[in-house]
Amino acid sequence: MIKQAIIPLAGLGTRLLPLTSVFPKELLPINGKPGIEYILDECIDSGIKEVIFIISKKKEIIKKYFHNDKFYKKIIKKKKDRRIIDEYKKILKYKKMIKFVYQNKPKGTGDALLKTKKLIKGKFFLMMLPDDLIIKKNCSKSMIKIHNRYKSSVIASMNVKKKTVSRWGIFKLKKKINKDNSLIEDVFEKPSIKNAPSNKAVIGRYILPYKIFYKLLHLKPGKGGEIHITDAIRSLINENESFIAHSFSGKYLDCGTMNGYIKSTLEIAKI
Ligand code: G1P
Repeated sequence: MIKQAIIPLAGLGTRLLPLTSVFPKELLPINGKPGIEYILDECIDSGIKEVIFIISKKKEIIKKYFHNDKFYKKIIKKKKDRRIIDEYKKILKYKKMIKFVYQNKPKGTGDALLKTKKLIKGKFFLMMLPDDLIIKKNCSKSMIKIHNRYKSSVIASMNVKKKTVSRWGIFKLKKKINKDNSLIEDVFEKPSIKNAPSNKAVIGRYILPYKIFYKLLHLKPGKGGEIHITDAIRSLINENESFIAHSFSGKYLDCGTMNGYIKSTLEIAKI
């Protein structure tokens, strides 16, 4: 059973400057709700019981957001506003689920993941990249179902325009299992258009095995001098660990870029 989710939040958010110059991107509102709450709601709805946030000293305000009890209590005492009481209850629910670990140097998603090693209890866990919002259908929930059926790792996948492949991890697929799921033969972090084996991109939802920590421990920095989970996944695939690419049916919103962030507010407002 997958009960733990890891969410790396230590990134600098430079693609969203100036909004992120003093404010973490994950707390930016999308249609009146901080982006990270959409991710937490996806977790809760998928049966996740514990979430591990990887933050940095610079982003401690994220912790404060979930630990601001005194502030709420003071206001609620003075004003019995139903909406504020409900919001506070929601924050308390999130707070109970979240543990915090630190990654103070941005050395990549793989390095961030390593910081959680001691807290992981099961053989598999969920990892979600908070820039990637998926609405209309719970992608994590579908992936957990696939994992339960095939007992293997699962990664979310989406077709992207060929000219944009170097922005993503790109899959080379082995064979189809059914309409939405295929076995992965290999995966490359941000390949050039020339070297990309397909236009099927990695989207930020992964069900990963505990074993990945042993790979990450020995991994050398890859693209851009960072430690990438993609490279650790490659090395597991080389050792015959099976990984499934799941092409999800929800709508993908890229909240990590300014254009995408603006668009996501409009899209969510339509629902
Ligand atoms: C990360 C991953 C990449 C994946 C992408 C999805 O890249 O390294 O493989 O395709 O997330 O959003 P980043 O967005 O951190 O550059």
